[in-house]
Amino acid sequence: MSTSVSPAWLGEVWDKVTAKMPYCVEKARELDVIPYTAKDGRWVNPYGASWWTNGFWPALARLMEIGTGEAIYRQEAERGEAMMDAALERFEELHHDLGFQFKISSGVSYALTKNPKSLRRTLFAAYMLAGRFNPNGFIRAWNGDRAGWSIIDTMMNLPLLYWASRETGDPRFRLIAQRHADHTIQHFIRPDASSHHIVIFDPETDAVLDTPRGQGYAPGSSWTRGQAWALYGFTLSYLWTGKDSYLETARRVADRFLERITPEWIPNIDFEQPEQPFAKDNCAGAIAASGLLELAALVPERSEAYRDAALNMVKAMADHCGDWTMDEPGILRLCSGSYEDRSSWHIKMVYGDCFFVEALLKLKGSTKNIWLL
Ligand code: GLY
Repeated sequence: MSTSVSPAWLGEVWDKVTAKMPYCVEKARELDVIPYTAKDGRWVNPYGASWWTNGFWPALARLMEIGTGEAIYRQEAERGEAMMDAALERFEELHHDLGFQFKISSGVSYALTKNPKSLRRTLFAAYMLAGRFNPNGFIRAWNGDRAGWSIIDTMMNLPLLYWASRETGDPRFRLIAQRHADHTIQHFIRPDASSHHIVIFDPETDAVLDTPRGQGYAPGSSWTRGQAWALYGFTLSYLWTGKDSYLETARRVADRFLERITPEWIPNIDFEQPEQPFAKDNCAGAIAASGLLELAALVPERSEAYRDAALNMVKAMADHCGDWTMDEPGILRLCSGSYEDRSSWHIKMVYGDCFFVEALLKLKGSTKNIWLL
């Protein structure tokens, strides 16, 4: 039986979001860095301009602008986008997360405003991401001596490349993205539809050298957020290309996510972790919920199941994990960086808020998807 979205409940949660977000913006303006997490009543970001989550702050502001039409969010999105120029200047530090950083910040700005500066920022990022392609078929993730490292998260950065082909008319960006997505299906998605976080390839021969633990519980386990990146990432690759294998993979990955999620709808950090200690990651839930709301429209026979699951996750987040106080900025609690680093457990994270608000807006009927604009 379908879980229904009560318009009253949805309205109440949206009212809480619109009451909290101006305070979050005000607290952000106290800083000269882009918010990452909150501590002692303040936003903090110890990682600087090139940090992979920085694009989620202007993206969240754009989502709020889309949802409310209020100018403070446009202004905050523009402020955040301009702050990220420091990352473009230090281009040698850029990595595979350019889609997170620029597709949903300057890319969305360009879609909404046609500002030529936003176009240049986003195109520059796309060229840098395309430049990370190893012709064996994958986009390298990180820098230094990790030439053969590829990670599942990159699936969610591919919209930057699809976007660049659409804007320039040059298919190379899309072809690189599709080669990476095909290679990811071949090497990351296991027969049971769970995903590796990291696969290390020989950068010369493409031989698989190792599949280390990454941010999950153990080598061979199933990092929940990685599964969510795959779920939404393959869905977006399908929406950009229409290629059936991406939809089929998104569906298998989603079904595995739903088979393994805990009954209270707040994901563990890893599907294979022991019962104790208590270790949750609401970011995984927010990403998966937003992805499932897209997938529900693409897979008619699973539409109800995907929508119900998304709604259950959003309800769990809003009713049990939302910080609606004005004591500290940030909304979604119980987000976690990695299983290994306990200091990263159960904090707020700007991208958790971004995907949570994105999912809420979809439930409210918004059809503007920041990964597709
Ligand atoms: N992209 C890194 C993470 O999901 O933590």
